[in-house]
Amino acid sequence: MSNNTQAVSGHQRIETSNLLMIVLVLLTVLVGGVVEIVPLFFQRSTTQAAPGLKPYTPLQLAGRDIYLREGCYNCHSQMIRPLAAETLRYGKYSTAGEFVYDHPFQWGSKRTGPDLHRVGGKYSDDWHRIHLNNPRDLVPESNMPAYPWLVSAPVDAAGMPARLAAMRMLGVPYTEDEVKASSDDVKGKTELDALVAYLQVLGTANK
Ligand code: HEC
Repeated sequence: MSNNTQAVSGHQRIETSNLLMIVLVLLTVLVGGVVEIVPLFFQRSTTQAAPGLKPYTPLQLAGRDIYLREGCYNCHSQMIRPLAAETLRYGKYSTAGEFVYDHPFQWGSKRTGPDLHRVGGKYSDDWHRIHLNNPRDLVPESNMPAYPWLVSAPVDAAGMPARLAAMRMLGVPYTEDEVKASSDDVKGKTELDALVAYLQVLGTANK
C-alpha cells in the first residue's frame, strides 16, 4: 500500500507522459545531429579542395549546367563509397575535398546507370559523343535516353560571366579576369562539347 504513495521516479514520469517523451526524444536527436554535422563545416578535409582540384573551366561549367538541365543525376550518382564492391568497379572512393567547387554537389543516390564520379578519362571524347547521341550505338542493351540535340545546340556564351560570378559568390576562386573572359572561352562550342568536357574532368584530381 505504501509503495503506491511513494514519489514516482523521473523515469516513470517521462515514460508516462507523451509530451515529455516527444520533447526529450527530439532534443536527444537534435544534440546527436549537431554533434555529428557541425564539425564537418570546420574540418579541413571537408572544406578544403583536394590536392590538384581545379575550379571548372567555363566550358566544363557550362557542361555541368547541361548535366543538371538534362537530369543526368536522376540515373547517375557521383559518389564512390569506400566499399570493395565500389572501388573495384569505379576506382578510388570519393572524398569530400573533391566536391568543394560543386554548387550544388551531384552525389545523388539513384543508380539506374553507373556512378560517374571517376568517369573522366575512362573513354575518349568520341566515345562520349557517340554515346550521348545514341547510347544503343555503343551499348546495345542500354536504357539511357539519347541526347541528339546537344550536338547542334550552341553553348549560351553570353550567360557565362553571370554563372562564374555566381560560383565566385559561393567561394569558387575565379578571378575577375576569368569571369570576364568566360564568354570567349565557350564561343563556337556546342552543348555536346561542353558536356563531354565536364565528363572528362570528373574525378581526375584525386584518382
Ligand atoms: C534513364 C536513366 C539514365 C539517364 C537519365 C542518363 N543515363 Fe547515363 N547511363 C544509364 C545507363 C543504364 C548506363 C549504362 C549503359 C550505357 O553505358 O549506356 C549509362 C551509362 C552512362 C555513361 C557511361 C558510364 C560508364 O562508366 O561506362 C555515361 C558517361 C553516362 N551514362 C552519362 C550520362 C549523361 C551525361 C546523362 C545526361 C545527359 C545521362 N547519362 C543520363 C542511364 C541513364
